[in-house]
Amino acid sequence: MFKVAVIGASGLLGRALVDELAQQAGWQVVATAFSRPGPNTVALDIRDARAVEQFVEREAPDALVIAAAERRPDVCEHNPALARALNVDAVRSLATAATLRGAWTLSISTDYVFDGTHPPYQHDSAPAPLNAYGRSKLEGERALTESTDLGCVLRLPLLYGPIVDWAESAVTSLVPAIAASASREGKAAAMDAWAIRYPTFTPDVAFVIRQMLERHAHGDAIGGIVQWSGDEPMNKYEIAVRLAEALQLDAQLTPQPTPTDATPRPHNCHLASDRLEALGIGRRTSFDVAIRQVLAAFPWQGETAA
Ligand SMILES: NC(=O)c1ccc[n+]([C@@H]2O[C@H](COP(=O)([O-])OP(=O)(O)OC[C@H]3O[C@@H](n4cnc5c(N)ncnc54)[C@H](OP(=O)(O)O)[C@@H]3O)[C@@H](O)[C@H]2O)c1
Repeated sequence: MFKVAVIGASGLLGRALVDELAQQAGWQVVATAFSRPGPNTVALDIRDARAVEQFVEREAPDALVIAAAERRPDVCEHNPALARALNVDAVRSLATAATLRGAWTLSISTDYVFDGTHPPYQHDSAPAPLNAYGRSKLEGERALTESTDLGCVLRLPLLYGPIVDWAESAVTSLVPAIAASASREGKAAAMDAWAIRYPTFTPDVAFVIRQMLERHAHGDAIGGIVQWSGDEPMNKYEIAVRLAEALQLDAQLTPQPTPTDATPRPHNCHLASDRLEALGIGRRTSFDVAIRQVLAAFPWQGETAA
C-alpha cells in the first residue's frame, strides 16, 4: 500500500488531486481540510506545528503533497503574517515532520515568483517576485529545500478546474461579470488585456502529480524545482470571450489595455515545463474542451442575466 497525504484537499487543486489519486489501485489517500471539512477529510490547521507533527506521526504517509496555501494576492498584501504562516512556516513544519518519517514532500508553488518581464522561465531562472504573495511562496520554496533533501517544488500558473464557487478560480470568477454584460440592461464589462496567462486545468495538474508520485513509489523520486503549465497563452479579455462562447452568452466585453490591479502583478510568467516533459510526464487538455467540462458540472443559473 502506498499512502499519500493531501494537505489542503478541500481547495481547487486539492479536490482534483484527491479525485485522481483515489482511482489508483493499491494507493491510500488521507486528505486534510481546514474551514471546509468533509466526511472523508481530517481537520488540520497547518499553522499548528505540534498538530502537524502528530498528524504525520499518526498517518505515516509515504508522500505528502502540500496544496494548502493562502493564494489570494490581495489577502497576502494586507496580511503578510498569514501569508508567512501558511506559505512559509507551515511548509517548513510539514516537510520537517515528513522527512523524520522518511516521506517525500511535494510543495506547490507559483509562477508569481517571477517578475514576468523575460518569459519563458526555466526552473532555475532567477526569481524576482513583485508582490507579497510571490515573495511568501518563494520563501516557502526555500523553506522546503532547507528542510529536506526528500522533497520537490512544483510551480504552477493560473489554475482552473471543477469549482464549488465562481470565485474559486480567476478564470471562472469572470463569469458573473460576463453574464451581467449580456443582460438586457447590461453595460460592457472591461476585461484586462495586458497580463498574459497560461490557464492550467487542475485535473491535468493532478495527473502530473500522480505521475510524479509514481516515480517516488518506484524509488526514483524527483528533487529540486519542477514546473508545469498549459500551453495556450491568453489574457483575461480572451479568456472572457471564450467563456462567453462556451456559455452561449451575447456578452459585451471591452479589452482593458493597461493593468488596473491594486496589487502589482507580473506581465507574463510563462513557465517552461521541460524538466517534467523530459521525464515523460504531462497532460494538457485544451482550454475550450476543459472549460466546457467545468461549466457543465457547475452550470450558470442566470443569477444576474436577464
Ligand atoms: N489557484 C491558482 O490559480 C494558483 C496558481 C498558481 C499556484 N497556485 C498554488 O496552488 C496551490 C493550491 O491552490 P488552490 O487554488 O487550490 O488554493 P485554494 O483553493 O485557496 O485552497 C486552499 C487550501 O488551503 C487550505 N487551508 C487554508 N488555510 C489553512 C490552514 N490554516 N490549515 C490547513 N489548511 C488550510 C484550505 O482549506 P479550507 O478550504 O478547508 O479552509 C484549502 O484546502 C497553492 O500552493 C497555490 O499557491 C494556485
